[in-house]
Amino acid sequence: MWGILVGDGIWLRLLERHHAEPLFALTDRNREHLRPWLPWVDDVREVGDSLAFIEKGLERFARGAGYELGIWLEENLIGVIGVHSIDRANASTSIGYWLDAGHQGRGIMTRAVATVLDDLFFVRGLHRVEIRVAPENHRSRAIPERLGFRMEGILREAGRYGGRWGDLMVYAILDREWEARRHYTSCL
Ligand SMILES: CC(C)(COP(=O)(O)OP(=O)(O)OC[C@H]1O[C@@H](n2cnc3c(N)ncnc32)[C@H](O)[C@@H]1OP(=O)(O)O)[C@@H](O)C(=O)NCCC(=O)NCCS
Repeated sequence: MWGILVGDGIWLRLLERHHAEPLFALTDRNREHLRPWLPWVDDVREVGDSLAFIEKGLERFARGAGYELGIWLEENLIGVIGVHSIDRANASTSIGYWLDAGHQGRGIMTRAVATVLDDLFFVRGLHRVEIRVAPENHRSRAIPERLGFRMEGILREAGRYGGRWGDLMVYAILDREWEARRHYTSCL
């Protein structure tokens, strides 16, 4: 199957239709963990909802407008990382991600984001990548901070999470900044 080895048995693979069941099971197990930060959790009620998400990602991939990758530890799906919508005119996009609660704290997502940045900057030639995060989401904020993103500002009540409107911090990194970082950091 198509995939990129991130290291230590971690693979990124395009989410395909036959992954709908494991994706739904993973989402269902992690509702309490994800609900405070992600607006769509309660909209995923059955396998068909996970399938619809995968199909939208495949359609975006086919148009060269983004993608949704599963994060696998060997044969087990443990998370998702997605490129939301590539703006070709401005060569920019944003990334979103989530990980199974039991697999946090090992650097898996930091390395997954680094791998996706390599693809976006070095393969797809983008100029700018954003990550938007709730100010209270310290675990998620640590990822762009660890990878050298700059915090550019706060969008007031731009996100719906935890059942309310909340602010979103905008982190961004440019192609030359990522290239310089990759040059001086042999591994992450
Ligand atoms: C956000 C989320 C993906 C972060 O997961 P995480 O496990 O903290 O992130 P990482 O996989 O990068 O792991 C980082 C941890 O691994 C450690 N680590 C170990 N090896 C590492 C390595 N090679 N590189 C980086 N970190 C490493 C870090 O020190 C850090 O540990 P700490 O939490 O004790 O400081 C996860 O908490 C999550 O899914 N949250 C709910 C959904 C969500 O908020 N999504 C984002 C919305 S914006």
